[in-house]
Amino acid sequence: TIAIIDFGSQYSELIARRIRETQVYSEVISYRTTAEQLRNLDPKGIILSGGPSSVYDEYAPKCDPEIWNLGIPILGVCYGMQLMVKQLGGHVERAKRGEYGKAAIHIDDPTDLLTNVEDDSTMWMSHGDSCTELPEGFSVLAHTNNTACAAISNHEKKLFGVQFHPEVVHSQGGIALIRNFVYHVCECEPTWTTEAFVEESIREIKAKVGDKKVLLALSGGVDSSTLAFLLHRAIGDKVTCMFIDQGFMRKGEPERLMEIFDRQFNIPVAYVNARERFLDKMEGVTDPEIKRRLIGHEFIHVFESESEKLGPFDYLAQGTLYPDVIESADTNVDPKTGERVAVKIKSHHNVGGLPENLRFKLVEPLRKLFKDEVRKVARSIGLPEEIVRRHPFPGPGLAIRIIGEVTSERLNILRDADFIVRDEISKQGVYHDYWQAFAVLLPIRSVGVMGDKRTYAHPVVLRFITSEDGMTADWAKVPYDLLETLSNRIVNEVKGVNRVVYDITSKPPGTIEWE
Ligand code: XMP
Repeated sequence: TIAIIDFGSQYSELIARRIRETQVYSEVISYRTTAEQLRNLDPKGIILSGGPSSVYDEYAPKCDPEIWNLGIPILGVCYGMQLMVKQLGGHVERAKRGEYGKAAIHIDDPTDLLTNVEDDSTMWMSHGDSCTELPEGFSVLAHTNNTACAAISNHEKKLFGVQFHPEVVHSQGGIALIRNFVYHVCECEPTWTTEAFVEESIREIKAKVGDKKVLLALSGGVDSSTLAFLLHRAIGDKVTCMFIDQGFMRKGEPERLMEIFDRQFNIPVAYVNARERFLDKMEGVTDPEIKRRLIGHEFIHVFESESEKLGPFDYLAQGTLYPDVIESADTNVDPKTGERVAVKIKSHHNVGGLPENLRFKLVEPLRKLFKDEVRKVARSIGLPEEIVRRHPFPGPGLAIRIIGEVTSERLNILRDADFIVRDEISKQGVYHDYWQAFAVLLPIRSVGVMGDKRTYAHPVVLRFITSEDGMTADWAKVPYDLLETLSNRIVNEVKGVNRVVYDITSKPPGTIEWE
């Protein structure tokens, strides 16, 4: 394990992912972790993340000063390096000029950390403070035109610092540097592989659950599908996979899901047809938040009554991922005021948004994984690409893409339009060019003319998005040809639609979904 001590950097997760890409397990932990706790965790190496603070801020987060004496190799990144320098008796100053963006590093000592990193490599810088005096035993490994100490080390104690961010993609040689730290300095073995994860989690599930019964709510997404696989492999028919069809999924999706699990993989799925119940709830509802709330509550009702019928169960399997674990594990302290603040805006809740006070104990085999690692696992156990790389799809489904009241007629219209979008971009081989690509149905009507006849029907909005994580997004610059094909097909093939428009709003200020 490499432990990453988080000082509130937006890049801490990224460091963890970069380490894992070298096939070494890494974990993000709080800066309040004591040296004693670290000793128990027994990592092969420690990375101190960057952070928004200055080491001179009154409430700047600090690490336990005993960690320098653990004998474990440490790499400080940006703020992490400044903290190392300051705590070990060096000097950090507010630089006359901060350094933001790309900078070429000039290598003074091409050993250890900088082996195989080319001189003049471009690294990503983002700092206001700089180290002006190194602690005893330290020497400079690299400098830039603005920064005398861009990379430093105390070879004997295996303490290293870099002022730049090796983890971001713009840093050439950043990966090489991380590999040097992980393999040469910390002497890690490449043991974090998909196969090892699958084996280990199956072992863990068996050990934890034994012959108790487990309930799993399948949604059709990659997380719950992977869960279903792992649990089935671990405990066979002791797991019950339940799929609640609320009627807001895309065309053919529920059928396809049943087919894949039931037939292709021999994992039985309890199919719950709740379409009418959900549709009834939608009668007369137009307010987006009320819509979402009603769907959420109904999901819980159906879930509870159905699980009673199928149960009793001891455990509920949940697709909690590593970012959820990090987010809920810690809050940060504002370096200027000392107030506790949440690091991130919460991302959307899981599929049905199950309440935490359910009577089940939880089994969460994916809690160590990042999303891209889930995809790797999914692929390795043979899940089809259509699930592995499916675009994100909201829990309330098409219901929140129908502006205004959700009726079965309007669901059919949107389902058909949505199908054409997916069909066309799959055929043209551009499905994966977009983070999401979908249609939204508007409650207004406009005039048109088709076959010499006046029409008065609904517009459909096309929403194509590019994004890294769904938190921010840009509208996609879709080729006109594709837009033209989609517009033609939708107007001709979908009854009730006579106009197609394209949404050119980024997020922010827009959100990805319309409700
Ligand atoms: P917004 O509309 O907030 O969406 O920009 C950001 C991302 O989250 C998805 N989304 C949801 N996912 N349950 C989910 O599991 C939900 O209720 C939900 N609402 C939005 C959305 O599709 C986008 O990827």
